[in-house]
Amino acid sequence: MPEITTPRDLFLHELGDILYVEQKLTEEVLPKLIQEVQDPDFRKGLERHLDQTRGHITNLEQIFDSMGEQSETEKCLGFEGLKAEHDEMTSEVSESLIDIVDAGAAARTEHYEIAAYNGLIEMARALGESEAVGLLEENLKEEREALREVESVAKKLRDETKSTATS
Ligand SMILES: [Fe+2]
Ligand SMILES: [Fe+2]
Repeated sequence: MPEITTPRDLFLHELGDILYVEQKLTEEVLPKLIQEVQDPDFRKGLERHLDQTRGHITNLEQIFDSMGEQSETEKCLGFEGLKAEHDEMTSEVSESLIDIVDAGAAARTEHYEIAAYNGLIEMARALGESEAVGLLEENLKEEREALREVESVAKKLRDETKSTATS
């Protein structure tokens, strides 16, 4: 027998998935990246997004609350895959390339979060959960900003390798 049988159950499950992602990012992944990267602009952007990510958790918990549910995380294998890919890459590249690997991993993560929030917003709308829609849109907006920012950092870092490759 399937455990998830209604659109509401599915929404709550997917909400738990993204809560897992935001918690992992806050407790483990972003602090580690902040330590790891060399580029000061990149580090500042990560620090800002760590702050925003704490707010994402608060918003998600508020959604559970507004629906009369306990907040509960669901292990997100998509995110675990992105993380495993990143960890493997960083163990294989020389130190001078770590920032580029990290920027690529950060951009992939933002894309993943954006896709998750887009889906959740549509589900919340269909369920008539207007408070959830508003809170999810706040998170989505910040993920989009973070993606734009990390993409411009990634471009800068990749452009810098162009000059070292030709000189
Ligand atoms: Fe987030
Ligand atoms: Fe994010």
